Amino acid sequence: MESSPSIVLFLVTLVVAVNNSLVHALRSTAVAEASTHNNQVDALLAWKRSLTYDSDPLVSWNYNTLSNNTPCVWKGITCNRMGRVVRIELQSLGLVRGNIEKFNFSSFPDLVHFALIGNSLYGSIPPHIGNLLKLTLLDLSYNDLSGAIPSQIGQLKSLAFLDVSYNSLDGSVPSTIGNLRNLISLNLSNNQINGFIPKELGQLTKLQECVVNSNRLVGFLPQSIGQLKSLFRLQLFANKLTGPIPTTICSMHNLSQLHLQNNQIIGSLPEELGQLSQLQELDLSFNRLIGSIPQSIGQLKSLSLLHLFANKLSGPIPTTVGNIVNLSQLYLQDNTINGAIPKELGQLNQLKKLDLSFNQLVGVLPQSIGLLKSLVSLDLSANKITGSIPITIGAMSNLTRLYIQNNQISGSIPNELGQLTQLELLNLSTNQLKGDPTKLFCSMNKLLFVELSQNNIKSHLVANGNLPNPPRKIHGGKCVEAQINQSSKFEFHKKYIACIVPPTTILAFVLFGVVFYVLQRNTRKAQTKGGLTKNGNLFSIWNYDGLIAYEDIIHATEDFHIKYCIGVGGYGSVYKALLPSGEVVALKKFHGWERENLVFERSFANEIQVLTEIRHRNIVKLYGFCCHAKCAFLVYEYLENGSLFVLLAEDVEAMALDWKKRINIIKGIACALSYLHHDCNHPIIHRDISSNNILLDSEYEAHVADFGTARVLDPDSSNQTILAGTYGYIAPELAYTMIVTEKCDVYSFGVVALEVIMGKHPRDLISSLSSTDYRNIMLKDVIDQRLSLPIEDEQVAKRVALIMALAISCTRSNPRSRPTMKQVYEELIAPKKVFQDPFYQISLGQLADLNI
Ligand SMILES: *[C@@H]1O[C@H](CO)[C@@H](O)[C@H](O)[C@H]1NC(C)=O
Ligand SMILES: *[C@@H]1O[C@H](CO)[C@@H](O)[C@H](O)[C@H]1NC(C)=O
Ligand SMILES: *[C@@H]1O[C@H](CO)[C@@H](O)[C@H](O)[C@H]1NC(C)=O
Ligand SMILES: *[C@@H]1O[C@H](CO)[C@@H](O)[C@H](O)[C@H]1NC(C)=O
Ligand SMILES: *[C@@H]1O[C@H](CO)[C@@H](O)[C@H](O)[C@H]1NC(C)=O
Ligand SMILES: *[C@@H]1O[C@H](CO)[C@@H](O)[C@H](O)[C@H]1NC(C)=O
Ligand SMILES: *[C@@H]1O[C@H](CO)[C@@H](O)[C@H](O)[C@H]1NC(C)=O
Repeated sequence: MESSPSIVLFLVTLVVAVNNSLVHALRSTAVAEASTHNNQVDALLAWKRSLTYDSDPLVSWNYNTLSNNTPCVWKGITCNRMGRVVRIELQSLGLVRGNIEKFNFSSFPDLVHFALIGNSLYGSIPPHIGNLLKLTLLDLSYNDLSGAIPSQIGQLKSLAFLDVSYNSLDGSVPSTIGNLRNLISLNLSNNQINGFIPKELGQLTKLQECVVNSNRLVGFLPQSIGQLKSLFRLQLFANKLTGPIPTTICSMHNLSQLHLQNNQIIGSLPEELGQLSQLQELDLSFNRLIGSIPQSIGQLKSLSLLHLFANKLSGPIPTTVGNIVNLSQLYLQDNTINGAIPKELGQLNQLKKLDLSFNQLVGVLPQSIGLLKSLVSLDLSANKITGSIPITIGAMSNLTRLYIQNNQISGSIPNELGQLTQLELLNLSTNQLKGDPTKLFCSMNKLLFVELSQNNIKSHLVANGNLPNPPRKIHGGKCVEAQINQSSKFEFHKKYIACIVPPTTILAFVLFGVVFYVLQRNTRKAQTKGGLTKNGNLFSIWNYDGLIAYEDIIHATEDFHIKYCIGVGGYGSVYKALLPSGEVVALKKFHGWERENLVFERSFANEIQVLTEIRHRNIVKLYGFCCHAKCAFLVYEYLENGSLFVLLAEDVEAMALDWKKRINIIKGIACALSYLHHDCNHPIIHRDISSNNILLDSEYEAHVADFGTARVLDPDSSNQTILAGTYGYIAPELAYTMIVTEKCDVYSFGVVALEVIMGKHPRDLISSLSSTDYRNIMLKDVIDQRLSLPIEDEQVAKRVALIMALAISCTRSNPRSRPTMKQVYEELIAPKKVFQDPFYQISLGQLADLNI
């Protein structure tokens, strides 16, 4: 036991020693910890000071002794248990602008996630970002970063997700990218990256998604790309890649999406393509591919989208196409494909869109075409197809668009065509068809555009047949009456007249009287350039500085020859006339006039009455008119770009209609309507605002046209009316109240605004607005997908969102809760609502909540 004290002493000493070293160790860790804290706090605060913003989005970023100066509680900061920052995640802080070069990456060696999405960051990605050896996620998308991607990026050995899309990066892809062996997802899209694709890319064997579209890449696709065995998405579209498709691509067995469209890829499609058994989307459109489509294409059993259009492919459509049972879109247009349409095509019962136009197809249309029951859009135009339209066509009950113009199709138009009740667009022009299709249109409630010209159709065809209720116009297009024997009489269906003419036709007479009073007055007031000519023509030209003579018009149109016809409306046809002075005018000739039809007289009178009173840059200008016992026409300014409806319906033209033009069009319509409703002596209600009645000049400035149904609101009357307008644009309350107010135009404006932003009629969206289903729909998903997201320019993006919010308010079912056109227009020119969120994060629910 003697030894006990010494043992105790020893133990005590040991404990003290251990304790001391422990304390020391702990203390030094704490010191290190604190200095790391301080480094990190300093680095973050220094960076915050370099930012510019309206209201501080990073209020919590501040020295705070209570929280021991740790940044770990700050917004967007996550620390590990040692108190070191491991994640910095700041998405869309409103209008923050900052230079990324001011961010001291060296202070954050433990960083795992660095995500600063949508913050208007500028400057170039600093090379010392390469020090973040633990980084697994780097997301700097939707900023304004410039310069080249630094080669030091290759040091980020842990990186799994790299996204720098939607910036202004240039330079080439550094070959060091091949060192990122853990990379799963790479997104460099929507920059200005140039140079070649480095062959080292092939080393990224874990890569599943490679998205480098919309850049300026040149050169060949490297053979090494075939080593990316895990890849399921390869998007290299919209670059300047050349050379052939490397056959190695065909060994990427998990590949599901291959998007190489919009490049300059040459050569033929490799036969080995058939090995890509998982492929769901294959887009090689807009390239320079030659040769024929390989038979092996039929092995791509999972394919739902096959776009090979706008190439130089030749040879026939392989019969094996019929094996691709899940195919939903087949686009082969704009090639030199020949041979007949294989009957096997009929096996594609999931097919929604089929476009074979502008090829060299011959032979007859197979009967099996009618088996394409899901088809929504069929375009076979500009081929050399012969034979007749198969009667099976009537089975394609969901068809909305049928284009078979410009072929050699003969025989009569089958009655079965009338079964296509969903049809909106029909072009049968330039064939050898015969028969009288007038009756067939009666069942086509949604028809908006018909073209039958250049056929042997001899019928008493008129612009409107037995129209369904509500009355609707077939127009916006060209010459329904084409090839009508000039001497044949127009027959207007009794029913149609009955539903347009009010019970008391007196109204029409009164209006007509008013008009003639107005006309006389105006004629006297204005410098009349025409005058009363022989045969008792009342011919008057005003609002126009050039010279127009009645004879000039008759001469210029060869007495209204069909070849000058550019459109047809409910009340007449529109002709284009080149005057001797070199100027071009549009003429609206009213048919049915010779039969003293009140509908037309009223519409004629209406248009003159309204348009003589108003002058506005966004309203079509009426120069004059001619009124004769046998012929009546109006003379307007000619608008080169035709109707908004036709532009939006055509992909190529719709793509030319960029976001800025579309915003301007909507602004123009709003300006015109605000003027009509609020700035005229008596409010004028147009009553038929639709994309068909918006005409565009050479600068794509909108001009509201067709005042045939417009009403000048009389404060003393009930404004009770008969229903007029275009199906799909009529305010819902009109179905039961029949009371016209300005809010009816506001509704139609809302529909048109939605149509312009969405690129198509917003039918489905409007019906979902009445429930809450729409709230989670993202704005970026409903806008016209033919254009790229409007994010290059922040102002444009904000306007698009604003228009969407306004349009949602305008289409509310309760007319009282719709804004006035004045409010709409004012909001459009000087927005009071500011959007904080970036475009791609805005949902329709958010827009509805703005409650404009
Ligand atoms: C960045 O941080 C490191 C380590 O915290 C420090 O040594 C360096 O001075 C800082 N650089 C700048 C420019 O502040
Ligand atoms: C970039 O591409 C990846 C992979 O496809 C995707 O997950 C990511 O959302 C894309 N980034 C943006 C901003 O669209
Ligand atoms: C291909 O995909 C399957 C299923 O997702 C997966 O199990 C397999 O590992 C993938 N192959 C490669 C080479 O990544
Ligand atoms: C076709 O699509 C369906 C539904 O997406 C899927 O279940 C089926 O496997 C697909 N068929 C083929 C052959 O890929
Ligand atoms: C036609 O369209 C409707 C509505 O989109 C859809 O429910 C139906 O399945 C389609 N019919 C065919 C045969 O695809
Ligand atoms: C209809 O076909 C004719 C003849 O090819 C063509 O000139 C016209 O532009 C077509 N209309 C539309 C809207 O495609
Ligand atoms: C119009 O039809 C009449 C009688 O059917 C015929 O005599 C005349 O030649 C035709 N005119 C034209 C331009 O086809």
